[in-house]
Amino acid sequence: MTPPETFGEIDHPPRLLMGPGPINVHPRVLRAMSASVLGQFDPEFTTYMNQTMALYRQVFATANRWTFLIDGTSRAAIEAALVSVLAPGDDVVILNAGRFGLLLAEIAARCEARITLVEAPWGEVIAPEAVEAAVRRVKPRLVACVHGDTSTTMAQPIGDLGAICRAHDALLYVDATATLAGMPVPVDDWGADIVSAGLQKCLGGPSGSAPITLSDRAAEHVFARRHVERGLAGTGGAQGAGRRIGSNYFDLAMIMDYWSERRLNHHTEAASMLYAARECARVVLEEGLEARFARHALAGAAVTAGVMTMGLGVYGDPANKMTNVTGVIAPAGLDYERVRGRMREDFEIEIGSAFGPLAGKLWRIGAMGINARKHAVLTTLAALEAVLRGEGFGFPPGAGVDAAMAVYAGAK
Ligand SMILES: Cc1ncc(COP(=O)(O)O)c(C=O)c1O
Repeated sequence: MTPPETFGEIDHPPRLLMGPGPINVHPRVLRAMSASVLGQFDPEFTTYMNQTMALYRQVFATANRWTFLIDGTSRAAIEAALVSVLAPGDDVVILNAGRFGLLLAEIAARCEARITLVEAPWGEVIAPEAVEAAVRRVKPRLVACVHGDTSTTMAQPIGDLGAICRAHDALLYVDATATLAGMPVPVDDWGADIVSAGLQKCLGGPSGSAPITLSDRAAEHVFARRHVERGLAGTGGAQGAGRRIGSNYFDLAMIMDYWSERRLNHHTEAASMLYAARECARVVLEEGLEARFARHALAGAAVTAGVMTMGLGVYGDPANKMTNVTGVIAPAGLDYERVRGRMREDFEIEIGSAFGPLAGKLWRIGAMGINARKHAVLTTLAALEAVLRGEGFGFPPGAGVDAAMAVYAGAK
């Protein structure tokens, strides 16, 4: 008999993750994840659920009662939001200026919604007037947009969109996957109705849990579509008159019944991921939101100064650049993938590649969560300089690191 094939223990060298996410997980989050799994209706566990709701209300800067977690990666919450709001034939206006705007359109198409795109070229953001014109024309059920689109590194200004949506009785969804806890995401000030995120970027956790928040009016719309599954009849709230939500797993009405005092037995909560999400929020709030935004902005400014001083271009409209991810334009003629490979093999540093029209043209350097720190930024710039020099791209050695250090010195 051949012996069973068991492979080796997972034991790779620690890598510095300086791409657009995932990033290195905060050690406190890793420790929280190793706590023993509890049953999801254990009173200790339901207390953790309630605490998690309270913590994320603060992270999202909202008073929304319905603030909780979707089990799954960030796109699980995006899908839960869209499928729970949009019924077939509903109109949705989607802001598209990058890959993740297109993802919203892809998911809305699967909901069989009627889609109107308001678009800008990659590297730019969309003017609120263009959104207002589309909303006025289409009168959509929902307006959906991405705050920080990591594919282009642009941050869409959200400020005016909430008022536009309210004036025309539309709900506003914002994908804040890449910005929550790194850039301001003031849900209530924005007047946003549903905002969702993931742990693996500025929140500093692993991918696999997606915080979400819903305004009362969004919740009311979702509950009007509540159709509790037959096997659980009688344990959720009253059935709604609206059309049944087109997904069981991502049915926000049932998921909210699960997170409410009703404790509807919808899915088996991913306990270890809840511990992770809870600890991420605790770490964020102990640091303080403003301090955390400033730390991410400083790290982003240092990356930007470093790469520009090295003679590299920075992608996109500087006025609307995300602070936490920087698009670095790869010099023509360099072997783009070999640079990333040497960063990983020689320095144990991961930087990101790019998608669609930017594939092969842009490296994306993220400085997020625990990696939005001086040592991580300087180490990455020093490594990039060395790799580029090895590839024959010449500039004064040390200049990039010096420029980044000057940004940090200037901030003292
Ligand atoms: C802005 C944005 N939205 C959505 C996603 C999808 O997230 P996930 O891969 O966690 O499902 C990402 C991932 O990079 C993202 O950057």
